[in-house]
Amino acid sequence: MFSHKKVERNVILMAILILVTVSIGGLVEIVPLYTVESTIEKVRGVRPYTPLELVGRNIYIREGCYTCHSQMVRPFRDEVERYGPYSLAAESIYDHPFQWGSKRTGPDLARVGGKYSNEWQVVHLADPRAVVPETVMPPYEFLLDRLVKTDDIAEHLKANRAVGVPYSDVMIEAARQDLLAQADPDGDHEALLERYPKAVVGDFDGDPKSLTEMDAMVAYLQILGRMVDFADYTTDDFRQ
Ligand code: HEC
Repeated sequence: MFSHKKVERNVILMAILILVTVSIGGLVEIVPLYTVESTIEKVRGVRPYTPLELVGRNIYIREGCYTCHSQMVRPFRDEVERYGPYSLAAESIYDHPFQWGSKRTGPDLARVGGKYSNEWQVVHLADPRAVVPETVMPPYEFLLDRLVKTDDIAEHLKANRAVGVPYSDVMIEAARQDLLAQADPDGDHEALLERYPKAVVGDFDGDPKSLTEMDAMVAYLQILGRMVDFADYTTDDFRQ
């Protein structure tokens, strides 16, 4: 065996032995996380985004909304009182990439769904100062004029499926139909809601004839934080 003297006088040998020791510790801590089922607990209600919500999410990322907004309510009393139940890991399980963020020039948006009407969201996005005079949020009026591209939506779902989002074959087949139906007041909402419970349906931007990026953005904002029904859970459900 190595004598202490030998190890302490040989820097390379010591470095190798330190590395071996530290990696055993690391492996013991990290490897089980990949195999244990409960690393991210499945939570009732969390589902993949509807095609329209997914488009909205893509626009959210494209416009860099995350540079001012986080999407994670931390488990501190001040945050929970301001925003609602703290975020669960499972709530962003289908977010690729997740939008937790750490920069809050504006408020956290993890639970903004249902906080305002669709109309408020549209007015605020088009001209934030019309409703909050002191805000520094830039206007996104152009979302009202830009039409959503509908022909490649199935590919977006497939790309998400490739990284683990459980979109079924039926969801992918119906992607374009669901995309159009969600913002169409006369669309087939029944099939959509069966596939994607709690999706907010109907015209969002005041123009039922065209599917705009504003429709997509508001559909996305309105589902944030609403998939899990926290009335279904007691604090014991989250205690290990
Ligand atoms: C320069 C920073 C900045 C950027 C970029 C920004 N926001 Fe904001 N946002 C704010 C601020 C500040 C507020 C709080 C005042 C207000 O309501 O306008 C806010 C408020 C909001 C609210 C209301 C939240 C609440 O709980 O009252 C929503 C929704 C929102 N922003 C969405 C967005 C979206 C979507 C984008 C991207 C298209 C975006 N923001 C980009 C700064 C920003």
